[in-house]
Amino acid sequence: MARGIFARKSVADFEADTSYGGGLKRTLGRWHLTALGVGATIGAGIFATTGTAIVGDPLRPGAGPAIVFSFLLTAVACGFAALCYAEFAAMVPIAGSAYTYAYAALGEFVAWIIGWDLIIEYAVGNIGVAIGWSGHFRELLSHFGVHLPAWLSTDYRSAHDAFTAVAGGATDVGTQFLASAWQEAPRLLGGLPLIINLPAAAVVFVVTIILIIGIRESANTTSAMVVLKVGIILFFLAIGVFLINPENWNNPATGGFAPNGFKGISAAAAIIFFAYIGFDAVSTAAEETRNPAKDMPFGIIMSLVICTVLYVALSAVLTGMAPWQTLGTPEPMITALQQAEGPPALLTFSRFIIALGAVIAMGSVLMVFQLGQPRIFFSMSRDGLLPRFFSRVHPRFRTPYIGTIITGTFVATFAAFANIAEVVDLTNIGTLFAFVLVSAGVIFLRKAEPDRHRPFRVPGVPFTPMISIVACGYLMIQLPRVTWIRFGIWLLLGLVIYFLYGYRNSALRKRAMSEER
Ligand code: ALA
Repeated sequence: MARGIFARKSVADFEADTSYGGGLKRTLGRWHLTALGVGATIGAGIFATTGTAIVGDPLRPGAGPAIVFSFLLTAVACGFAALCYAEFAAMVPIAGSAYTYAYAALGEFVAWIIGWDLIIEYAVGNIGVAIGWSGHFRELLSHFGVHLPAWLSTDYRSAHDAFTAVAGGATDVGTQFLASAWQEAPRLLGGLPLIINLPAAAVVFVVTIILIIGIRESANTTSAMVVLKVGIILFFLAIGVFLINPENWNNPATGGFAPNGFKGISAAAAIIFFAYIGFDAVSTAAEETRNPAKDMPFGIIMSLVICTVLYVALSAVLTGMAPWQTLGTPEPMITALQQAEGPPALLTFSRFIIALGAVIAMGSVLMVFQLGQPRIFFSMSRDGLLPRFFSRVHPRFRTPYIGTIITGTFVATFAAFANIAEVVDLTNIGTLFAFVLVSAGVIFLRKAEPDRHRPFRVPGVPFTPMISIVACGYLMIQLPRVTWIRFGIWLLLGLVIYFLYGYRNSALRKRAMSEER
């Protein structure tokens, strides 16, 4: 059996499989790849989760103004993992996700675990993006005179935490608004308030319909999106820099620059890891890159550097604009602008621009991940590891519509009720685990197949992948215990499904068995 579950898909197997498209044109250069990375990365992480990272929550301390160090710490961890991703992706000459590469390089069982784990990165990650989108959409609507009540645009945990904080004396606008959800919501049976994040579910519904019909982002919209994302952050910096009160950075009354020391910085680093997820998308373009050996590491590292510079600058300005303890909302930039002292018309206009930009930026992340998930299901189903219906293509639209509908229903349902911090924690642990597996895979393959052609080689093997494993492992350890339990249950569920279904239906194994006969 051990040999069976580690069976690998050969390059010929992939080529025989028409679903992989085969023979893509090598047109992408180093800056295309950089744009791809920046476009896939900037989204809810920076717009929505920075607040929790700065303030913390009942499960962990926040970084306070020292959040800038958290961004640097995570960037370094991602940099090492990114190099491993690049070697892995460039080595397998086909387009696809980490699941596809793992099937060719590390065998079916590891591929299944990575594929199962990618559901956490893509689908669960998108629940977080949808919730982040919702908060900014609510803000946007308010500029048109439409005021969504809190009970229709948040979740139970946020409302309850805020309610408790207000009862304990919190007076900031963000917390008071969230607390109003608990007080004003209509009551269900037994007095339970009805709290549902309607815009979060609705946006997933709309994106799902668009993807079923089959509209994809073109190269032009990707470039426009990058310009918009970078532009919106630069806009915030340009306005915010004039609203800084340096006392906010180092106020002894609120614990100074790093109120919770290194503990707070590390805990925040594990949260804002979410803001970096997506740079691994660069590796999926290996087959379309002119010179993968040089361009791939350049694209990955450059997109990481650009995002890191933007994130560090943004978080420095943000924590300078308002006392750090008041920024713990899912819209921290809006919250900072609400509290800053400045010309009211300029502040209102800035809030409008940030809300509009964030809604478009996060909408594009939603599209990318919502598009990616059904295609991973599609590959897994073609390989026989998931039921056939996941690879059924719509007769008219030519899209994997069943997988798209299942993904949409899953994401929309959880987006309606889940808490963004919990969802982000789960996404982070799952993605970090995938990075650990990929990094370990690089070391393993260098030993197992030293002569395999590697268009890009990670420098300093085994040390670089080892640093990646330790750094990602370190970030995983910072995540709350409940996240580990959820992740453990998820992996166990994956194992059960594999042995009950995938192992028996694997196309690769069936083919091998029929050849033996
Ligand atoms: N990095 C992506 C985002 O922040 C997941 O939305």
